Amino acid sequence: MLIDIIAGARPNFMKIAPIIEEIGKAKIEGKNIDYRLVHTGQHYDQKMSGNFFEELGIPEPDINLGSGSGTQAEQTAAIMVRYEKVLIDQRPDLILVVGDVTSTMACSITAKKLNNIKVAHVEAGIRSGDLRMPEEINRMVTDSITDYFFTTSEMANENLKKAGVENESIFFVGNTMIDTLLKHRSRFRKPSVWHKLQLEGGKYIVMTLHRPANVDEEGKLKDLIREIINNSNDLPLIFPVHPRTAKVLENLGISNPQLHPIDPMGYLEFNYLVEHAKAVVTDSGGITEETTVMGIPCMTLRDNTERPETITIGTNELLGTDPKAIKPAMEKLFSGEWKKGNIPALWDGKTAKRIVDHLLNLEQKA
Ligand code: UD1
Repeated sequence: MLIDIIAGARPNFMKIAPIIEEIGKAKIEGKNIDYRLVHTGQHYDQKMSGNFFEELGIPEPDINLGSGSGTQAEQTAAIMVRYEKVLIDQRPDLILVVGDVTSTMACSITAKKLNNIKVAHVEAGIRSGDLRMPEEINRMVTDSITDYFFTTSEMANENLKKAGVENESIFFVGNTMIDTLLKHRSRFRKPSVWHKLQLEGGKYIVMTLHRPANVDEEGKLKDLIREIINNSNDLPLIFPVHPRTAKVLENLGISNPQLHPIDPMGYLEFNYLVEHAKAVVTDSGGITEETTVMGIPCMTLRDNTERPETITIGTNELLGTDPKAIKPAMEKLFSGEWKKGNIPALWDGKTAKRIVDHLLNLEQKA
């Protein structure tokens, strides 16, 4: 069985790494399974892509589509046109896509439209209900043409069933991003900013912001950052800045001794910083899962989430995007009242093995 594994943007890389490793093991055991790694090139900077391959031991991609940046339509179109050529050249038995980025949707559509190639979606079924986010559209479109749904939560299973997906096509397997976190946790390492600022465990806050709703409008971003600075008890704020945010941040001219904007970080150093932080303020989805597993308080600056278990079970709280919500949340944090949280079912480091076992079973049945 030949599987095309698709990766395009930063949050994909930690999700595919353990799957590639498990396929490698199955192959050594003589199982009929092989893969081609396809990098769409949606993220292309060393800091957004290359470093993750090195750190997580992901092999060089077999195919680079080199699609690059652009509007949503330009990106989608570039990926589809380039991937279609790859598929015509050699047809895989199945393509495996992860998460919700534009590459996920674009490659699924291309494969499905070209001879009905089967699609497996890892992290299927999660929904924010917010169609203003391109990721929500990517999730809905991908799931509408997916054959095998690998899910991270009971809520995802329910969402899929409500949409009419048959039980037999849903495989509740857990979270491959957490496989990567648990595997590499003992290798997390202090970033240079740790020494430079003489950081101490539990005495700084990590923040990441890149959602268009928070960062595309200068006034909004400025208000959010000001409010975080004013309410964080003078703790250093370590802010690895996404390229999208960097463009806006430059124009804001915010300079405050507490605020430390830095370049995007590698996986091992970023997670070291998170693991030892007092709290994380973010608008990412994946980071809310990682903070849940590491038991670190997390404040999400979004109006909704596709990962409700990080709130109901984990350490995450949804603050919304109104800067006024930051003060009471920080007060709760500093008074020691933040919830401790638990770890959701099957987020146990064995998800990729379950996925590969299911794929092998499905192949036998086909
Ligand atoms: C994408 C994903 C988002 C994910 C995020 C993580 C979609 C719709 N969104 O958003 O779900 O959370 O990645 O990073 O797929 N850029 C660079 N260098 C790069 C990559 C991007 O400078 O290596 C610039 C682009 O030129 C663009 C901006 O960053 O101006 C945004 O990149 P893009 O891939 O369009 O979306 P993200 O905001 O990164």
